[in-house]
Amino acid sequence: MQKNVTEYKQIFEKAGQSHVFKFWDDLDNERREQLLERVAQVDIDELSSLCKIHLFNHEAQSLDLEGLSPAPYIPHPQNGGDQVQWHEAHARGVEALKANRFAAFVVAGGQGTRLGFDGPKGTFPTTPIRKATLFQVFAEKIVFANQTYGCDIPWFIMTSEINHSATVAFFQEHNYFGLKPERVICFRQGLMPAVDLNGKIIMEDKHLISMSPDGHGGSLRALVRSGAVEQMEKEGRDIISYFQVDNPLVKFIDPAFIGFHLSSGSQMSSKMLPKANAKEKVGNFCVQRGKICVIEYSDLPDVLALETDASGKLRYIAASVGIHILDRKFVKEAGGSGTALSLPFHRAHKKIQTIDAKGSIVKPSEPNGYKFEMFVFDAIPFAKNAVVVETRREDDFSPVKNATGVDSAESTHDDLLREYARWLKAADVPIETDATGLPKIKLEISQKFASDQSSFVKRWKSLANKPAIVDGLIIA
Ligand code: UD1
Repeated sequence: MQKNVTEYKQIFEKAGQSHVFKFWDDLDNERREQLLERVAQVDIDELSSLCKIHLFNHEAQSLDLEGLSPAPYIPHPQNGGDQVQWHEAHARGVEALKANRFAAFVVAGGQGTRLGFDGPKGTFPTTPIRKATLFQVFAEKIVFANQTYGCDIPWFIMTSEINHSATVAFFQEHNYFGLKPERVICFRQGLMPAVDLNGKIIMEDKHLISMSPDGHGGSLRALVRSGAVEQMEKEGRDIISYFQVDNPLVKFIDPAFIGFHLSSGSQMSSKMLPKANAKEKVGNFCVQRGKICVIEYSDLPDVLALETDASGKLRYIAASVGIHILDRKFVKEAGGSGTALSLPFHRAHKKIQTIDAKGSIVKPSEPNGYKFEMFVFDAIPFAKNAVVVETRREDDFSPVKNATGVDSAESTHDDLLREYARWLKAADVPIETDATGLPKIKLEISQKFASDQSSFVKRWKSLANKPAIVDGLIIA
């Protein structure tokens, strides 16, 4: 039940946060309501304990890296993996798709500040010719799978306060890209208050606590709170495919990955790919105290990051690229109230709008506070039989993170073109490419036409009238 303002004032005062109500008497009713709305979202005990851990306890801040070793993984068939095992996994995954056990889930609540794009990241135009947005690319992959496997995949999209309305409006405007509106379910993730260097809640205006999304780790709670897990339960779906909104190459409906997840009895499975170099800005799959875990690139000491085996190969080679399968029961437990996992919060030192003593807005030029986020991969050590499966970078990973350079709109654009060229070559279609596999002409293959190389080859070969391969060709 909602508390009244007097109760909130007492609770915040007890926690040393009474300044949140400093301008209460100056506020009109509408602003008072807005303040109370945010106040109600703050878990003050959680915040106090986070400040203790992250701000005032210097020992706890150093990450525990004791006994770390590289994680084992199931190798890709092109890297020594067992063909028969992969074949069986694929068949098992197809069966699960046909049996409607699968749900797609994208985390799209991030702010995308690095890209400098104004709007939800999923609305970023990404393909070479049609300029299909990230959301459109994912929607087409679902349309293709529904047709191929005769299933009806629901797509859950985690947004945040900042981009929820814009995301919903975008799907409405585009008629859900051919999906049934009721099968595209958007819900908001939670928020966390920001604090200053002394652990005081930052006010971004007299009536507004500065709050930001609680990280993709907040998705476990949000999946439960939003009713998504309940819906999956009613529909008999137990396989939740988790992926990030910034990666148009991701094969998030991947039968072999689903098959390995099921045959290992895993509660949380992950795809890995070999790192491009020792210091690539990705998470690293490791083992600690017998459990698989992910250590961010920024936390992995150079001495480990650079370590090689006798053959000169990096020991910590396994990159985490934000592609997982979650078991529904695991999510229900991990994100449910009372049974929720206490995933660690990570702090980020940021420039955060604040107010001065008189309540005037201040935009700091230097970082002045901390935001707190949870990471979904911190749930892996809690999962039973967690398994890591190798994929190939060119098949699954080319994120749009930056405006230019590495992991940018340009590199993704080229990687999509390379993928189309590989698929065409595999179908014995001559297409001229440079040494990196980039075709000399621009073309595009819609995700509604094929989802991967083998489905492309099959479909292409079945075409009675094949189009000529010319600049500007769209195969749809
Ligand atoms: C992330 C991973 C890194 C991985 C890399 C692969 C972290 C800390 N690191 O890095 O291990 O190798 O991706 O691309 O995640 N998001 C939300 N809500 C939030 C925060 C993020 O939905 O509150 C979503 C974003 O919209 C995005 C995804 O989570 O889809 C990843 O977030 P981002 O901040 O872009 O992660 P990276 O630092 O790039």
